[in-house]
Amino acid sequence: MEVIRIENLCKRFGRLEVLKGINLSVEQGEIVSIIGPSGSGKSTLLRCMNHLEIADSGSIVVDGTHIARAHETTGRAVYLPNKEILSVCSRLGMVFQNFNLFPHKSVLENIIEAPMTVKGMKREEACVIARDLLRKVGLSQKETAYPFELSGGQKQRVAIARALAMEPEIMLFDEPTSALDPELIGEVLQVIKQLASEHMTMVIVTHEMNFAREISDRVLFMDQGVVLAEGSPEDIFVNPKHSRIQTFLNIVAKTGESGGLADSSGSGFTDGATAGEAGQLGMPDGKAGGRTLLKYGRSGEKTDARGKGGAE
Ligand SMILES: Nc1ncnc2c1ncn2[C@@H]1O[C@H](COP(=O)(O)OP(=O)(O)OP(=O)(O)O)[C@@H](O)[C@H]1O
Ligand SMILES: [Mg+2]
Repeated sequence: MEVIRIENLCKRFGRLEVLKGINLSVEQGEIVSIIGPSGSGKSTLLRCMNHLEIADSGSIVVDGTHIARAHETTGRAVYLPNKEILSVCSRLGMVFQNFNLFPHKSVLENIIEAPMTVKGMKREEACVIARDLLRKVGLSQKETAYPFELSGGQKQRVAIARALAMEPEIMLFDEPTSALDPELIGEVLQVIKQLASEHMTMVIVTHEMNFAREISDRVLFMDQGVVLAEGSPEDIFVNPKHSRIQTFLNIVAKTGESGGLADSSGSGFTDGATAGEAGQLGMPDGKAGGRTLLKYGRSGEKTDARGKGGAE
C-alpha cells in the first residue's frame, strides 16, 4: 500500500527554484533514503511532505488523502483546510538535525507534551507510553534530566522517542546524525535500525552513505531540485549510472578518508575534495556544505571520522 505519493512537486523561495517537479512514492513499510549534495532540496522536500513548507504546484498524498492537489489547469497546489491537513500530518513523525527539544522541559515532559496537547491523552497514559519509549531508546534513567544535561546522541534519541509518542505511521528523518560528534552517531543509527526491523515506514535524508546503503529499500539521489536517480542501494552506490552521483560519492569518500571537514558554521570544506569536484556538484562557491562524514569498514563498523555539523 502506498502511504506517500508526491507528483510533480515544485517549490520556489522567491526566485530560487528549489524543487523542480519531484515525483516520489513510498510504500508502507518501505525505507527510502534521500541523498545528494547540500542545497539540492532534500530538506525542503521532507518539509513539504509534512506541511512545514507550502508547495507551489503538484500533489501530495498522505495515506490516501490529498493534502495538496494539483489544480487541473494551472497545476497549482490546492491545499485542504488546515485542520484536515493537521490530522493527516499527525501520522507523520519528524526528527530534525538539531533535535528541537523544548529546553525548559524535562525529557519526560518533552515526550508527553504532544500526546497530551494534540491528542488529548491523559497525563498518566502519556507517561506510560513515554517510559516505554525511553526504554526502547535506552534512556530510562534520564526521564527527569533536562536537554542541557544530555549528550547530542541522547538528545536525538529523546527526539526520536518524542516523535514516536504520537504513534506515527511514517517517520521522516532530516539528517538525524549530522549534528552529532562521530562517536555518538552509532547510537542514533542503532535506534533507527531498530525501527527498521519493526517495519516502520521511513524517509531518511542522510549523509551516512554506508548506513543508507545498509538500511534502505530504495535510494533517491537529488541534485538541484530534481531526483536525478532512484533505485536499489546497489543501483546507486555500486553501479551509479550518472557521473554526478559518482562524483558525489567520491567527495564523500575522500572527505571521510582525509578526515577533512567543515567548520561549525556548516559552510567549510574539506581538504578531501577539490573545488573542481564541488563545482561539478553545482556549488558555486566550491563548497559542499558542512556535515559529519563517516567512513565505515566492511563490517559496517565505524573506522574513522571527524567533524561536526554545528548543532545546539
Ligand atoms: N526558508 C527558505 N528561504 C529561502 N531559501 C531557502 C529556504 N529554505 C531553503 N532555502 C534554499 O533552498 C535550497 C534547498 O535547501 P534545502 O535545505 O532543501 O537543501 P538540502 O538539500 O536539505 O541541503 P543540506 O544538505 O545542506 O541540508 C537552498 O539553496 C536553500 O538555501
Ligand atoms: Mg537539509
